[in-house]
Amino acid sequence: MDAETSSTATAAETLTFPAEFRWGVATASYQYEGDCENSQWRAWEQAGHIKSGDVAGIACDWWRHAERDFDLAQQLGLNALRLSVEWSRLEPRPGEWDETAFARYREMLQGLRARGIEPMVTLHHFSDPIWFEERGGFLAPSAIDVFARFVGRVIEELGDHCDLWCTINEPNVYSVAGYLIGEWPPGHHGEVRTAFAVQATLARAHAAAYGVIHQQQPHARVGWAQNYNIFAPATNSPLDRLVAGAQDAAYNDFFPRAVLTGRAVFPFSIFAGGLRAVRGTCDFVGINIYYREHVSFDLRYGQELFGRRSRPDGAPRGDTSANDFFGELYPQGILDVARRLAVFGKPLYVTEHGVGDQNDRVRPWLIEQGVRSVHAALREGLDVRGYYHWSLVDNFEWAEGWQQRFGLAALDLATQERTLRPSGHFYSAIASANALTPAMARQFVTTTSTTS
Ligand code: BGC
Repeated sequence: MDAETSSTATAAETLTFPAEFRWGVATASYQYEGDCENSQWRAWEQAGHIKSGDVAGIACDWWRHAERDFDLAQQLGLNALRLSVEWSRLEPRPGEWDETAFARYREMLQGLRARGIEPMVTLHHFSDPIWFEERGGFLAPSAIDVFARFVGRVIEELGDHCDLWCTINEPNVYSVAGYLIGEWPPGHHGEVRTAFAVQATLARAHAAAYGVIHQQQPHARVGWAQNYNIFAPATNSPLDRLVAGAQDAAYNDFFPRAVLTGRAVFPFSIFAGGLRAVRGTCDFVGINIYYREHVSFDLRYGQELFGRRSRPDGAPRGDTSANDFFGELYPQGILDVARRLAVFGKPLYVTEHGVGDQNDRVRPWLIEQGVRSVHAALREGLDVRGYYHWSLVDNFEWAEGWQQRFGLAALDLATQERTLRPSGHFYSAIASANALTPAMARQFVTTTSTTS
């Protein structure tokens, strides 16, 4: 393993973090709760779209026993947990609300607070009610109003127990995977214009949610979680640099730019519609970061703005995946992204960072490098408030089903037994000490092979 480190701190230094720093884990309702019968993902599974044939099933059984994992998070010394509320559960039919489900979420949020864990609640994490999808999802004319109504209801019901809200998880992934690659519902292939239209609508839906939340809870802190891929030109040639920059602008920058400026850049502005109302609608920015891609100019890749993505031999990788979604692991990218987001002048959270790694081959290294990268950002004066590792326990990994294992703890699906991986012990040591010491790194980062 010869991956570079991003930090200016040496390996011999203890890295300490601010007293209020949040050490958390990130989760999502469909991937954890189990039995989300009214979600479009359930319909997608039933239609046979998960290549492995896996289904989420009872997942990590949170709907009945989330508290088991809240105990685990507490034992690990964590003080933060990101979870999402399942729209399809709370509003199984348009305008029909499930009070029992709200009560369960209240119980869960209270359970977190009682354990000294601050919840961050995501309002939309890829899963939509089937009725919403059948109406055209975020392309339906009523979508923004319907989503805002849902958000209003959530704040009314749960606002006493949470004031840290993430409106939408990874609008870029939702639109690219569902409308361009087609591996996710609704399974559209190659619809570049539609993918931008969906992303722009998500930006307006985010802005509407921001308004609704602040109206009901003026002190709320509201942001969204943006997925970042680092697009590095494969060579220094002007064409490679051009296409890497184009992919970066389209994928990474479209949504943040809308929030920052209320506009999209040309040519994406052609598909975007009005974004003025989106300007300034965030109190923090969430960074979800996993991968780096090396980009070469290639005329055959029109749909990817003429950029062909590749990963050099020997690059650190997680476990091999069925559809090759997952690129070169690049924990050092946290610092790059935090720097570029400084222009917002808002607090930043690393709302996701992790790896699918059944045998904990590379996760300890990834955690060490990620934590170093956060620390390097803090040293530069960047306002990073917390780090949420994806994820606490192995969970249902969308199109990959159960074939990708992202947990600090391994999950035995048959028994629901959890077994903490060494990386879980490592992360716990860091969170408990609010520091990364050289002794911890020596103890846990013994991996010599980061490639898959
Ligand atoms: C998503 C998670 C997913 C994780 C690992 C993120 O894009 O928000 O839901 O499980 O990546 O692939």
